[in-house]
Amino acid sequence: MLDQTSKPLVSVRDLKMHFPIHAGLLRRRVGVVKAVDGVSFDVMEGETLGLVGESGCGKSTCGRAVLRLYDITSGEITIDGEEIGQRAQGKLREMRPTMQMVFQDPQASLNPRMTVEAIIKEPLDEHTKLSESEKREKVAELMDAVGLNRQFAKRYPQAFSGGQRQRIGIARALALNPKFIVCDEPIAALDVSIQAQVVNLLEDLQEQLGLTYLFISHDLSMVRHIATRVAVMYLGKIVELAPREALYDEPLHPYTKALLSAVPEPDPSLATKKERIVLKGDVPSPANPPAGCNFCTRCPSVMDICKTQEPEYFEVSPGRFTACHLYQNTNDTAE
Ligand SMILES: Nc1ncnc2c1ncn2[C@@H]1O[C@H](COP(=O)(O)OP(=O)(O)OP(=O)(O)O)[C@@H](O)[C@H]1O
Ligand SMILES: [Mg+2]
Repeated sequence: MLDQTSKPLVSVRDLKMHFPIHAGLLRRRVGVVKAVDGVSFDVMEGETLGLVGESGCGKSTCGRAVLRLYDITSGEITIDGEEIGQRAQGKLREMRPTMQMVFQDPQASLNPRMTVEAIIKEPLDEHTKLSESEKREKVAELMDAVGLNRQFAKRYPQAFSGGQRQRIGIARALALNPKFIVCDEPIAALDVSIQAQVVNLLEDLQEQLGLTYLFISHDLSMVRHIATRVAVMYLGKIVELAPREALYDEPLHPYTKALLSAVPEPDPSLATKKERIVLKGDVPSPANPPAGCNFCTRCPSVMDICKTQEPEYFEVSPGRFTACHLYQNTNDTAE
């Protein structure tokens, strides 16, 4: 849990990741997809920051950009005191052990021609000087830690179930004792019956190893369970960020309100009280976002100013951030 002494392990400022669009015979650049368009947030040491939003809003791109799996368009990224936003790929190598990623699809992210042992050992080969026997012992310990039988080290990923494959991916991510892990929809591809087991494993590991997570998901009920704070993304921008309870009890941004209204209420006596907000229209293209507030084309509370002026992202009350013209930034003395 967060307290006064929490300090950021990860700081992201005005991060942009634009992908060029090429067209025609000459593959001329005709525009850009603004997948992530100016996001700022901190991830505190030991916390889980949930990152939610509809498909295509830029969650995965944001997670990958923070780990510098892309050369970013602009912005600052500080992880464990190191500014890596503009660092050349070759020079990122020494930072790699600190930051790892767990992917959505364990099937696709594990090499089918490598044994489980080889898969988990690979980062150790690359980044450590351990002897072969030390590495084998470390792999066995990692398999224990994620609840895999160490007897199965010589088997291939295909011999495992989806949930077990995700455990292999987690063991591999843990091999170099990282501090920060981006979990990109780590349970979305799994059967509902085993989702909880993998979530519990991630929570147990976090507690034992003091890990910090950026947890990407479109499952708001799951994020409510696992996250310390939650950031809501829409069309490449964070529209709201708040401690979990505050966000779920009293969402500020109209988009957050709409998203939460669509979450099924497990208690039938409360379900009837809840009003479902149905958003009109589709998410605009990130290649051509609307002027002003990018939610203005679908917002139930839209005002004139929203169509011309982009709302500033600011701290509305301690720990609560939003970008919406319904909330005035009273700290702003510029006007
Ligand atoms: N390598 C790429 N080149 C061009 N466009 C891309 C690339 N990767 C992502 N995009 C675009 O960026 C936008 C954001 O995609 P992203 O995968 O980050 O969304 P997401 O929130 O993770 O969605 P989902 O919930 O479906 O996983 C989309 O419009 C997508 O088409
Ligand atoms: Mg994604």
